[in-house]
Amino acid sequence: MNAREALAGAEARLAAAGVETPRADAEWLIAHLLGTTRSGLGPRLEDQVDGLEPLLARREAREPLAYVLGEWGFRRLTLKTDARALVPRPETETLVERALALAQGIERPRILDVGVGSGAIALALKDERPDAHVVGVDVSTAALALARENAVALGLDVELREGDVASAGDGWDLVVSNPPYVDTLRGLQPELGFEPEQAIVGAGLHEEIARAADARLVVFEVGAGQAQGVARVLEACGYGDVRITPDLAGIDRVVEGRR
Ligand SMILES: C[S@@+](CC[C@H](N)C(=O)[O-])C[C@H]1O[C@@H](n2cnc3c(N)ncnc32)[C@H](O)[C@@H]1O
Repeated sequence: MNAREALAGAEARLAAAGVETPRADAEWLIAHLLGTTRSGLGPRLEDQVDGLEPLLARREAREPLAYVLGEWGFRRLTLKTDARALVPRPETETLVERALALAQGIERPRILDVGVGSGAIALALKDERPDAHVVGVDVSTAALALARENAVALGLDVELREGDVASAGDGWDLVVSNPPYVDTLRGLQPELGFEPEQAIVGAGLHEEIARAADARLVVFEVGAGQAQGVARVLEACGYGDVRITPDLAGIDRVVEGRR
């Protein structure tokens, strides 16, 4: 089957399976198999495509595209992605942007990422602020193993430890976190069911981290509708200059403060 035929067939099957972006996903899968990018597919439409069926069947079963591809882009990095950790989301890039802005002007900042997962935030920060000392902690040994593989593959020197904010130590310039903040998986996209539940479902972590962190600056990713509540929590914990930043979709997504 050539790429043109493969694309048409894959798009139809993914649409029937309820995938939100069937054309784009079909393009990603076929580009991956041809060793090119989606934008590079145009001149390759007559090329033979082999090995599509197992990947397509996984995506049809609503496994996240990033797990099927085994890698995903985040900021300037390509990270290995699998079911050991959450797929890095585009909105988390806004969190990294605010973290970088907050760390500007601090020499060799000491940065802690609570809930490091695949390593996305910690590794992007180290990549874009090479002078920073970046530590990532997580309660999941599986996620930490993936973060370590990513750090080695990318040659980025971040310290990764099992634990939470309470055991992470003191004296941070900046604590950054995208903690689990969803009430329940019920009614959400089936893709979320493939990701570790402890990476998604959780409540009260923003407050726990804000209270326990010995940090001059904190910056959090929050769920839709949570920004005002988390901003109030930061104020109650003694943080000033509390600011909310929307993500690229216009949803209030990042809350920060300083003390
Ligand atoms: C939403 S994921 C974020 C992963 C990654 N930082 C990212 O943004 O893609 C949350 C992570 O926090 C971890 N986690 C959950 N509870 C935690 C806690 N109390 N302390 C530290 N990490 C925790 C989970 O294992 C998961 O890896």
